[in-house]
Amino acid sequence: MENVSIGIDFGTAFTGYSFGFKGAKQIRQPKWGEEYGMNTPKTPTCILFDENKNFLKFGYDAIMTYTRQTRRNEAKKLFLFDDFKMELYGKVLHRDSMMTAKNGKKMRAMKVFSESLKFMKDHALDMIGKHTAGVTYSASDATWVLTVPAIWSAAAKQFMTEAATEAGLVTKSEPERLIVALEPEAASVWCKQLPKEGFMEGDLTEAETIEQISGTQYMVVDCGGGTIDVTVHEVAEGGCLKELHRVSGNNLGGQTVDKNFKSLLREIFSEKVFDEFEENHPSELKRLMYDFSICKRYDGEVLVQCPYNLQELARKVKDIEDYFEGNSDAEWESGQILLSGTMLRALHDNSIRGIENLIEEILQKSNLTIRYILLVGGFALSPYVNGFVKEKFGSKYKVLCPVDAELAVVKGAVMFVLNTLRKTVKKYIITNTHTYIHTYIHTHTHTHTHIYIYIYIYIYIYIYIFLIKDRKHQDMATDYIDYILFNNKIIISLHHDIYLTCCNALND
Ligand SMILES: Nc1ncnc2c1ncn2[C@@H]1O[C@H](COP(=O)(O)OP(=O)(O)OP(=O)(O)O)[C@@H](O)[C@H]1O
Ligand SMILES: [Mg+2]
Repeated sequence: MENVSIGIDFGTAFTGYSFGFKGAKQIRQPKWGEEYGMNTPKTPTCILFDENKNFLKFGYDAIMTYTRQTRRNEAKKLFLFDDFKMELYGKVLHRDSMMTAKNGKKMRAMKVFSESLKFMKDHALDMIGKHTAGVTYSASDATWVLTVPAIWSAAAKQFMTEAATEAGLVTKSEPERLIVALEPEAASVWCKQLPKEGFMEGDLTEAETIEQISGTQYMVVDCGGGTIDVTVHEVAEGGCLKELHRVSGNNLGGQTVDKNFKSLLREIFSEKVFDEFEENHPSELKRLMYDFSICKRYDGEVLVQCPYNLQELARKVKDIEDYFEGNSDAEWESGQILLSGTMLRALHDNSIRGIENLIEEILQKSNLTIRYILLVGGFALSPYVNGFVKEKFGSKYKVLCPVDAELAVVKGAVMFVLNTLRKTVKKYIITNTHTYIHTYIHTHTHTHTHIYIYIYIYIYIYIYIFLIKDRKHQDMATDYIDYILFNNKIIISLHHDIYLTCCNALND
């Protein structure tokens, strides 16, 4: 059967997948939310379970079922999780760790993650079937690439790998069909090969693509829902990537603006009224926040529908117009809240300052000759974010934003597999060994067996790179390396020194 690569970008705010067939250039993804008047390339990272913890819905379906079809008392019985990706950041989660749902009750984190991945897997296989005249694809026909934040610990990455196995993407006997890639690298892999037309505006004059000029340094700023990741890559010989710097800012992404909006409402309606609304009408609050998140696409004035029960609770205390008296940036407009452009900009302020500080932090490093700043991620499409970066840094650097900014990670993930020939994939794997072993050595207590394994890996890599020249034995060695490395759950990453050594040795 034709081989297919499927990338999954499990985001804080939005999750999506893309797929491509080996040998074909096209990378596709579904549209989400059309039945609700939306048309987005990813769907909200939101999962709903019934009162018995059985999976019900994911994405827009979960939000809509929870906010529009669930009565107040029933909503409290359901298990709704959103923004849960960050549960894996900075915490030590194990297979039995629990996570708290919106109703305050707990569920196994592994189940929440694996059911989310299972939903994506089933949706993807179904979609692929539609593109192949009904030929049925199963999970084992695909190579899966799961992207994870670069700042995650090895334990968090391992947790995702286990969730993917529990979701049925791969089986324990075939772990090599799962590649865990870092989000900034995937985004970079996508952007560096884009032609001029792939970017919204800005000029890419020196070359047709960034990757064509060896030595070009560029910064990828991934503006997501939760985090802002800034990475500097250099195009090394043969189009490979060299990571020069990386910084991340947690809680600076698009959801920070949503949180600021919520604080503003609490200020306007008073803590007492808003807390009561939040406590008793979680589904209405969810819908309000969702409506507001759409407003972030615009600059200037925006209108947000005020939920019925918030109005009712507020009116019990005083006339609703009185809450807005003397406030020139938020007005009451018969059932809607009118936010001024100044206020909307102010809600973006701390995110934008955060992005500015992260970019500056990197630009202060010496010996960098950065030419481009590439803005990716959904929040990069915000007119405030996009406008700010162009205004602040546009005179010195070429600021480019891909047309499909929010898909850069997931498309890069697919391209990563489609474009990397067998040999190149091996290079990536070898590259990783070094990083992996170091992480492993620093995070585990070691038995003699572990030490022997490291020595084995090093010896084989050494043989592979420097000694084996004939094809047959080279293949045997790579298969052996595969076996060892994949069984140790290697994370794909670029570690420049070893990577280049491999490139040079293999090109000999
Ligand atoms: N057109 C747009 N204009 C402004 N903001 C947008 C737009 N599209 C998406 N966003 C915002 O971008 C954020 C989501 O971006 P993205 O999908 O890249 O995040 P993510 O991958 O889920 O998060 P992370 O990378 O932090 O895990 C949300 O806060 C969303 O409201
Ligand atoms: Mg992201």
